[in-house]
Amino acid sequence: MAELQTLAGKLKCSLLHRGTLPLAILILVFFCYGFLSSSRQTLGDLEAEPSVAVGKLDRWQVVTLSRMVYPQPKVLSPVRKDVLVVTPWLAPIVWEGTFNIDILNEQFRLQNTTIGLTVFAIKKYVVFLKLFLETAEQHFMVGHQVTYYVFTDRPADVPQVPLGAGRRLVVLTVHSHTRWQDVSMHRMDMISRFSEQRFLREVDYLVCTDVDMKFRDHVGVEILASLFGTLHPSFYQSSREAFTYERRPQSQAYIARGEGDFYYLGGFFGGSVAEVLRLTKACHEAMVADKANGIEAVWHDESHLNKYLLYHKPTKVLSPEYLWDQQLLGWPAVMKKLRFVAVPKNHQAIRNP
Ligand code: UDP
Ligand code: GAL
Ligand code: MN
Repeated sequence: MAELQTLAGKLKCSLLHRGTLPLAILILVFFCYGFLSSSRQTLGDLEAEPSVAVGKLDRWQVVTLSRMVYPQPKVLSPVRKDVLVVTPWLAPIVWEGTFNIDILNEQFRLQNTTIGLTVFAIKKYVVFLKLFLETAEQHFMVGHQVTYYVFTDRPADVPQVPLGAGRRLVVLTVHSHTRWQDVSMHRMDMISRFSEQRFLREVDYLVCTDVDMKFRDHVGVEILASLFGTLHPSFYQSSREAFTYERRPQSQAYIARGEGDFYYLGGFFGGSVAEVLRLTKACHEAMVADKANGIEAVWHDESHLNKYLLYHKPTKVLSPEYLWDQQLLGWPAVMKKLRFVAVPKNHQAIRNP
C-alpha cells in the first residue's frame, strides 16, 4: 500500500509538472480502480467476478472477467524435486506442494460434491470413534458436504460429536466376527452391499479408512478421483521384491515377484461410489474364492486391494502423508505434513474379546 501510494505520488507530480492534470486524474482513477478491485480478491477468492462497472463512468463497455489469482505454475520449476509426483500411467501422486487447494475447492464446490467417509468400529474399536470424528471435523473435507457412515455392532457406543454445517453421521448396525482378520476382510463385503443399497444414491465419492486413526492436518478434495489408493508408509522406499504381496499362486491375491507398482494400504482407499463398488465387490469375491480353496491372503483385505489396484490402476495415488505411523516411523523430512496418523494401540488387548 505504502509503495503504491509513493508510486502514485511520483506519477502525479511528474505529470502535474507537465501541466497534464486531466490525464493524471484519469491514470490515477484507473490505477486506484485496479488496486481496489484486486485487493478485494484474496488468493482463495476464485469466484468469477461478474463484471467490471467502468462503463458507468465513461463510454467503455461492461466486460465480464473471470479471475483466478494465485501463484503461476512454472513449467521449468518443478514443485517437488524429492519425490515422484506422477505414476507411469499419468495419475498424480498427491504430496504437499503439488496442488493448490483453492482451485480444487472451487472446482468441487461448483459440482456440489458430496463425500461419504466409511469407517468400521466393531467391538472394542468403538473407543477410537471419538477422536477420529472430532479430528475429522477439524481436518477432513472442511467446507464440503460430508456423511460419516459408521459401521458398528455397538450403536449405543457411538459418541455424540458436534458436526459442522453440511455434515451428518449415519450409524449402520452390522454383525461382528470373532477373528479380527474376518472383521477387517468383511469391510469389503459391507461397503459393496451398502454402496448398491444407498451410497450410490447418497454421495458422489467414498473414502474408506481404518478407525484407529486421527486427523492431524488437512485432508481435502485433493484426494478425490475415480479410484485412489494410498502408499503404505512402511514400503514407499522399498523395491517391489520387498512388498508384502500375497506370494502363493493358490490365492486370488497372488502377485508374482517382478510385478507390482506400489504397496498400497488397506486402511485408506476410495473413489467414485461406482468404482468403490467394483473394487470392494471384486475383493470380496476373491476372498470368498480363497476361503473355498482353504487359503487366506497374508494381509487379508489389503492383499486383495493390492492385487486389484495392480490390474485396475488408480487415477490418483496418495503419498504416505495421508496415512502415517509416527510412533513407528518418526517424521522424515520428505513428509511435509502428517495428515492422518495411527493412534497407538495394544493389538492383543483391543482385538481380543
Ligand atoms: N476393526 C474393528 N474391530 C476389530 C478389528 C478391526 O472395527 O475388532 C476394523 C477397524 O476399523 C480397524 C480395521 O478394522 O481400524 C483394521 O484393523 P486394525 O486397525 O486393527 O489393523 P492394523 O491397522 O493394525 O493393521
Ligand atoms: C504393517 C501393518 C499391517 C500390514 C503390514 C503389511 O506395518 O501393521 O497392517 O499393512 O504392514 O506388510
Ligand atoms: Mn489400523
